[in-house]
Order: sequence, then structure tokens, then C-alpha cells
Amino acid sequence: MRLPDPALVLLVGAPGSGKSTWAAGRFRDVEIVSSDALRAVVGSGTADLDASDDAFRLLDQIVEGRTRRGLTVVVDTLGLDPDRRATWAAAARRSSLPTVAVVLDTPASVCRSRNAGRDRPVPRRVLDAQLGRVREVPDELRREGWDVRVVAHDEPSPAVAPRLETPEDGTTGPQVVLQIGRFPWGSEPLEWLRDMARAADSAGFAGVALMDHLIQIPQVDRSWEPIPEPWVALGAVAALGTDLRLGTLCTPASFRAPGVIAKAAATLDVLCRGRAFCGLGAGWWEREHAAYGLQFGPTARRMDDLAVAAETVKALWAPGTRAYTGEHVTLPETTCYPRPVGALPLVIGGGGEQRTLRVAARWGDACNVRADLDTVQRKSEVLRRHCHEVGRPPEEVAVTVLDVAVVGTDRDDTWTRVERHRGRTRAATYAARHHAGEAAAHRERHGRLVDAGVSTVFLALPDLDGPEDVERVAALARR
Ligand code: UTP
Ligand code: MG
Repeated sequence: MRLPDPALVLLVGAPGSGKSTWAAGRFRDVEIVSSDALRAVVGSGTADLDASDDAFRLLDQIVEGRTRRGLTVVVDTLGLDPDRRATWAAAARRSSLPTVAVVLDTPASVCRSRNAGRDRPVPRRVLDAQLGRVREVPDELRREGWDVRVVAHDEPSPAVAPRLETPEDGTTGPQVVLQIGRFPWGSEPLEWLRDMARAADSAGFAGVALMDHLIQIPQVDRSWEPIPEPWVALGAVAALGTDLRLGTLCTPASFRAPGVIAKAAATLDVLCRGRAFCGLGAGWWEREHAAYGLQFGPTARRMDDLAVAAETVKALWAPGTRAYTGEHVTLPETTCYPRPVGALPLVIGGGGEQRTLRVAARWGDACNVRADLDTVQRKSEVLRRHCHEVGRPPEEVAVTVLDVAVVGTDRDDTWTRVERHRGRTRAATYAARHHAGEAAAHRERHGRLVDAGVSTVFLALPDLDGPEDVERVAALARR
């Protein structure tokens, strides 16, 4: 059963139906708020009914606090009181969190025998009344607007099911390329780079893409952290002789003369036996241009330059040495040796609908956009329109995504990573932006991206430190 996340999850079931057990197998302790546990906090123990009012006041406050922050909260009570449910649902809806009721459909006989075995069993008559109420509740919940999920008694206990599943789910995954944007290589840059590439290769990644910036960008790390010239660094990776595809994501057209970009990529392509690709974008960060003595023009100018660069590299990579006269570019000859081994994919980065996607439609082999489904669907549609307008079959231009993802080994690990890396961003916002979750959930998401037409996922890990992180996400790379 896959639940929305974040969500307000209301457990519903008779005593002994297995609510707490179900929740413990799926959620972190801090995400579960239990009236029993709070009775023991403010009273003498989980069965201290005199402490109920205090316990529920606290419980309400916790539900309110977590939902207001957009964080998942699992309410572990009997779930039978409509007034309390209404309070919690209202809190969730104020924060646009989905409200899910999980009903434990456990046979009365099982609840009775579990109850009988407890230290302080619920009195027989009370239990019977509660069992009766549980039968009425699903209809009430639906009327109240809850998304009702029923857990059958014979569903396997999550406590014994493996947390990190890499199921042979039969889905066709995308091609996944590891995008490296931070380089915490200490005193051994070459070793680090090569270890990363070897780890990516043995994990099953289709390739490695390096970020192309002159100063480390604030979204990734501090400005004094190393950020290498990527075409040089990729040369070192090419020397390993792996089957990895190698390229940049993305090379700003503003950094190098277009012909020099064509030359660098073609050189890499021969060094890695035809496995190079070239990410190309307009450039966006003024600071690095100023620091390195580069022009940083207004947007329209940079878009023009992107088109020129795309057209130039394509002209120089084409067979022959003839003069070239095209849309924006005129070259007296196109003598570019070494020539790329094969078709060298040009990946145009950015989702700008007027210009960038048009450049992709005209000269690109792919466009690269953000990895959320809405963006993919919208940009693919715009790309298709541009393709029709420039007279190119849309299937010639692939849609790829940059997926900056937090991948945890389990739910605890995932949220530890979110908390460590979110900086001042709200945890729920950071988690949503990076689809924080376990590998199995990312695989499912990638499957949905494939269904939406995505061919390649460039996977970036905000917490990438070394080869062990590449191994950690190997389940996502499986081809
Ligand atoms: P729970 O303690 O999870 O039930 O399980 P509950 O619904 O939360 O009960 P209340 O409302 O707090 O009283 C009750 C017993 O059943 C066992 C648990 O180990 C526990 O001893 N159990 C639960 C199973 O053996 N298998 C299950 O799948 C679920
Ligand atoms: Mg319980």
C-alpha cells in the first residue's frame, strides 16, 4: 500500500487490531503520535485513563504543529471519535495535507485473544462495543472526506518485510547518468574522480556528467570548494576505459567560444570511443562570469549566443570540411578533427519555453528539464510544438531531466539526510523538492517519468561525498 507522503494518517481499529505495529513498520517514531504513549508521558502509564484529557490536548498540539510544517503525522488512537477526527482533518487541510484513514480490518476473534493476553486487558464489554463501532466507521470516514485504506488482517507484517526493496518490478527504467556537481576530493583529486567513475560504472550507471561552473554554485556548496574544468576532468575519467557515457551538464555557451566547445567534446568523444555527450546551456550566474573576465549579457543576448553555439557545434561535428552557411552562423570551413566517433548528442539545458526549447528543437538531440512530472509534461508539449514549427520529427529530440534526489536507505536515514542538508529551507519543502525517499520510491517515480516520455535521468545527489554514496543509490542505476 503506497500512501501519500507527507500526509495526515489516521489509524482506525479496535484494541489489539495491530495499529501501533502497522505504524511502527512504516514510519519513524517521531512521526507517530499515540494517545497511549502520551498517557504514559503525562500520566502513570498507557492505560491511565484519568490522563486522557491531558494526553489528547498534547496530541492535538502535535498534530497541529506537524501538519502546519507540512510534515507527516500518524495519529495512533482508536480513531473512533468523530469530533477529534474533525479537529485533526481541519489541521491537515489548512496545510493542504492529504487525510488518509488506515483501517485495520482485523477479525474480532484475533483482537479478543490479543487483548486477553495483555497486562491490562480492555474489559470484555468495552472491547465488544469498540469492535461494533469499528464496523460503522469506514462509511463515516468516507462521508467526512477521508481517503480510506483498509488493511486486511493477512497482509504480511511490515516489521518483517525488508525496508529497502529493489524489486524485480518489471518496470523499464530510464537510462540513469550520475551527475556530479560537488568534488570533495581532499588531497587526491585524480583518485577521487576515478573512484567515483568506477563506482558509477559498477553500480550500473549509464554515464557520468560533470557540472560546468567556474565557481561552485550556492545551491550545491560553498564557493571555495573545488569545481574542476569538466572537459579536462572528463579526459581523466575517459582514461579508465569504462563503458560510461561522459559529458557535461551543462556547459554554458558563455564560457568558451562555440568552436572550442565543439573541439573539447569531439576530443572527449574519441578518447571514450564514441560515448561523449555535450550539455549546453545559456549560462545564468553573473558572478562567475565577472570573476573570470567573461561577458554576461542580458537574457535575450545569452539566448542568441546559445543558438549560435548549438548551431556551430553541430556544423563542426558534421562530416566534411565544407563552408557552412546556416541560420545564425557562417563559417568559411568546418575542419574539425578529430571528428566525433558517432553522433555526439547535444543536450540543451533549461526549460525556457520561447527560446531554449526552440534551440533544442532546432539543433538539440535532447532537452534537459527539471524532474517533476508537471514540468516534464508541460515542457514536452512545448518542445513538440517547436519541433513541428522547425520541421523536425519530435522523436528526434529526447527529453531528459536533472533529478536532484535525496535517497535514504530507510525512512530514518532519509530524514536524517533531509535535516542535515536542508539549510534554512523548510524540511517539508526540501524533502518534496528532492523527492526524499528510499530507492524503491525513486524507481517508481522514474518509471512514471519514463511513461511521460523521459529517456534519461541525470541523477544528482546533494549529499554526494564519495564512492560509497554511489553504491548507496545503485538500485536506481540498474539498467
Ligand atoms: P498492536 O499493539 O499493534 O495493536 O498489536 P493496536 O491496534 O495498536 O492496539 P491498541 O489499540 O494500542 O491496544 C497488538 C498485538 O498484536 C500483535 C502485536 O505484537 C501486539 O502484541 N500483532 C500485531 C501481531 O502479532 N501481528 C500483527 O500483524 C500485528
Ligand atoms: Mg496501539
